[in-house]
Amino acid sequence: MTSPSTPHIDPKDAPIADVVLMPGDPLRAKFIAETYLEDAVCFNQVRNMLGFTGTYRGREVSVMGSGMGIPSISLYSHELIHTFGVKTLVRVGSCGGMQEGVGLYDIVIGQSASTDSNYLSQFGIPGTYAPTGSYRLIERAVAAARDGGHRVHVGNVLSSDIFYNADESALQRWMRMGVLAVEMESAGLYANAAAAGVEALGVFTVSDDLVTGTHTTPEERQTAFTAMMEVALATVTA
Ligand code: HPA
Repeated sequence: MTSPSTPHIDPKDAPIADVVLMPGDPLRAKFIAETYLEDAVCFNQVRNMLGFTGTYRGREVSVMGSGMGIPSISLYSHELIHTFGVKTLVRVGSCGGMQEGVGLYDIVIGQSASTDSNYLSQFGIPGTYAPTGSYRLIERAVAAARDGGHRVHVGNVLSSDIFYNADESALQRWMRMGVLAVEMESAGLYANAAAAGVEALGVFTVSDDLVTGTHTTPEERQTAFTAMMEVALATVTA
């Protein structure tokens, strides 16, 4: 029997695990597979949105690029969940820190994901829905971060559709509401997971400090990336 395919994922009989890590950049997915997974095989090349499946400490794990923004991660996560039976999706990526004390290279765990996107309107909720990360995964991620001695913050992140905002004060209003950091995907991922009854989480490293206007260097980013990956892998294999 040939495996199913979708408009964006064509595994050609390669396996997809029920746990998928999702970095934004497909070449990051390749790097993660080569660095952390054993016996990794490629399961997707459509649009170069590379996906791989291998094992980590004996557990089958997949890693696939999500692309940037809610539309991109939403379509990939929808297909992974609804066509390929994925039950656990963990976004790994960078974010911009928005509070004093959320410093460069810290780890942020998205307890919830506020958004300026209209993506959630499709669900017809009579009010404002709060997309939320899986508490089971949050607990594991926090434990892994503490075990690794990493600085970790857990709270509300902003999944914004807008990287270059014409309204320069928009981020400040989110900051005043205590939002920890900004990225561009998790609200779509969390909403899709909730609608399907599966679990999702976003684990981030702070690459830009929007309070002080400082940014990480490429070399230092690699160290922070390693810490985030250790947390994410421990979270999905605990
Ligand atoms: N904005 C949105 N996403 C991000 C940022 C940012 O400043 N930094 C890293 N991801």
